[in-house]
Amino acid sequence: MSSESPPPLFERMSSLLDPGRIMLWAMSHYIQVFGETILKGQLLAPFTQTQKLRDEAFGRFWIDFTTPRQMSSDPNNTEIPPPVGSSALIPPLLRTASGVVLDIGPGTGTQMPLLTSPSITALYGPEPCTSLHGALRAKAEAEGISSKYHILSTGVAAADLVPALRKTSGVVDAYDADPAAGIFDTILCVRVLCSVPQMEKTVDELYAMLKPGGRLLVTEHVVNSWRRAKGSFVARVVQGVYTLLGWRWFIGDCALDRDTEAVLRAAGGGDGWESVELERSFEWSAMPYLSGVLVKRG
Ligand SMILES: C[S@@+](CC[C@H](N)C(=O)[O-])C[C@H]1O[C@@H](n2cnc3c(N)ncnc32)[C@H](O)[C@@H]1O
Repeated sequence: MSSESPPPLFERMSSLLDPGRIMLWAMSHYIQVFGETILKGQLLAPFTQTQKLRDEAFGRFWIDFTTPRQMSSDPNNTEIPPPVGSSALIPPLLRTASGVVLDIGPGTGTQMPLLTSPSITALYGPEPCTSLHGALRAKAEAEGISSKYHILSTGVAAADLVPALRKTSGVVDAYDADPAAGIFDTILCVRVLCSVPQMEKTVDELYAMLKPGGRLLVTEHVVNSWRRAKGSFVARVVQGVYTLLGWRWFIGDCALDRDTEAVLRAAGGGDGWESVELERSFEWSAMPYLSGVLVKRG
């Protein structure tokens, strides 16, 4: 957490390679999709259907990346490993979600086991990468929340999301009558603000869609603020190197260098939050994290 002390130098240095390993993993899926497309005779597809190929490759990578690995050689042991590293920041936050919940970019539904509380009345998951929807549906079934989890084939931009919500249910009726009423009691941003096309605009729209008193729960990797006491100039340079090597291209438009905290704090005109409790973790690394809760002024 924010008070954590950095690990020894060797561990810090070797952790700088972690994003590289992730990128190579994603790259291998991209090469595979690229190769399959060429073998099917669609020689121009890499140029004419670039985004489709990238989405397909990212979808396959993310399914692979989020599939739990077996902990023991016993094939009957299906125990899921406990969360470690940045993943350990997520459960205490998400377990506080309640009411009508927006789960932005749920991916394969990795966080769903944390969203089974009866105090959650409905969940909406806008996930533009439709090749992940099968896994997402299966996870909702497995967690017994399929009747209240609505998967939406859209991004989180209000211009797309609000019409999609109107088609799904009456959840926007009060908002349509008076936008100040908002829509959601809780909004979850877990490793997703790094990928949305226009973060400032998106965060302002999320703020508008929160009900007064509503809570935004955040766990996001962010730019290494190397000027902060615990930041690292080397890790900031490494973030730049991975970006130049194509991180965004292979990892679904994810940016390593967003100042998410500044954007979140500024939402609602800067005075829009009743309370902001944000912490930084792993500030010495190429993937520092921001996590916490922002409560909209009532
Ligand atoms: C790094 S994954 C995180 C998935 C999930 N939140 C988790 O913690 O496992 C980012 C997800 O955001 C989705 N995404 C990207 N742009 C988005 C957008 N504009 N609106 C909603 N989701 C988006 C991606 O398709 C992907 O599933």
